[in-house]
Amino acid sequence: MRTMRRFLTADRSGRAAFLKARPVIAALVMAAGMACLSPLALAQDKPSPAGGDASHSETPHFPIEHPKHVSWSFSGPFGHYDKGQLQRGLKVYTEVCSACHSMNLVAFRTLRDLGYSEAQVKAFAANYKVQDGPNDEGEMFERPAIPSDYFPSPFPNAQAAAAANNGAAPPDMSLLAKARGVERGFPQFIFDIFTQYQEGGPDYIYSLLTGYQDPPKGVAVPEGGHYNPYFVAAASLAMPPPLSADQVTYDDGAPQTVDQYSKDVSAFLMWAAEPHLEERKRTGFMVMVFLVIFTGLIYLTKKSVYARKEPDAEPQRG
Ligand code: HEC
Repeated sequence: MRTMRRFLTADRSGRAAFLKARPVIAALVMAAGMACLSPLALAQDKPSPAGGDASHSETPHFPIEHPKHVSWSFSGPFGHYDKGQLQRGLKVYTEVCSACHSMNLVAFRTLRDLGYSEAQVKAFAANYKVQDGPNDEGEMFERPAIPSDYFPSPFPNAQAAAAANNGAAPPDMSLLAKARGVERGFPQFIFDIFTQYQEGGPDYIYSLLTGYQDPPKGVAVPEGGHYNPYFVAAASLAMPPPLSADQVTYDDGAPQTVDQYSKDVSAFLMWAAEPHLEERKRTGFMVMVFLVIFTGLIYLTKKSVYARKEPDAEPQRG
């Protein structure tokens, strides 16, 4: 019986020792795990050879360059669109990009937001032809667009668009500024939470448009491709550099450079993808103000509800 008891106490103290040592053991196991995984992580972080040298065994990572950072009028909690810039961007889109890119979720009538009158929008829409029908004979027909129509595609279908562009169809531009972005990585993405960085799309489009350059030595660009280290999917893309200086005439005196065109059209595409950005930011700010006031009120309520739990004085008897 005594030996049994001794055995039990020994067991119990062993268990206690194990329980005490548990955090230490867990830490050791975690450290061992991390030591095993770190070579993998390091291998992933290694910068890729520029342009994805085919002779190299490692998979190249794209984009080769991270997007440049532009200071936009619409960034930050009080951001707002610069209407002059949006009008210039519309001009660049109309005169250059719309030859290849559709924008079929954006209606002409929404151009009123850019500061145009109803008559101006009507006249602008009439420059485009859209397909309508069928008519009484059952035929489809073309007619000039009206404000309730959407920016049409310059190609009849995606296959025709791809066939005309070296096999890659130009993507629709309605949501492009929201659909593209490049991972910012640690620790940048943590700072982004506080700075409210949401301009990855326009930064990317601007960098792409201004990023065309000669390929570095040893990088083979496929036929019909154009080297651009900012492209997300490869070292080159099927779009030839679309902009050149003095290509679009600005009538507000803004510089007619590739840099300015790229900024303006990127801002315009941001508006196209998120026309209610200003409203969203304004509402967000009001919500934050409300939450701060509400927190104060809740705190005061809590203080008042839990106050005077202890009796102030000895209760009167008798
Ligand atoms: C000659 C036709 C043509 C014109 C003009 C053109 N593009 Fe493109 N664009 C393309 C093609 C083709 C692609 C698809 C490229 C690919 O996937 O390789 C493309 C792709 C893009 C992309 C997407 C890249 C990605 O990440 O997938 C952006 C952004 C873009 N174009 C912006 C513009 C802007 C802005 C303009 C006007 C200044 C413009 N393009 C004018 C043909 C054109």
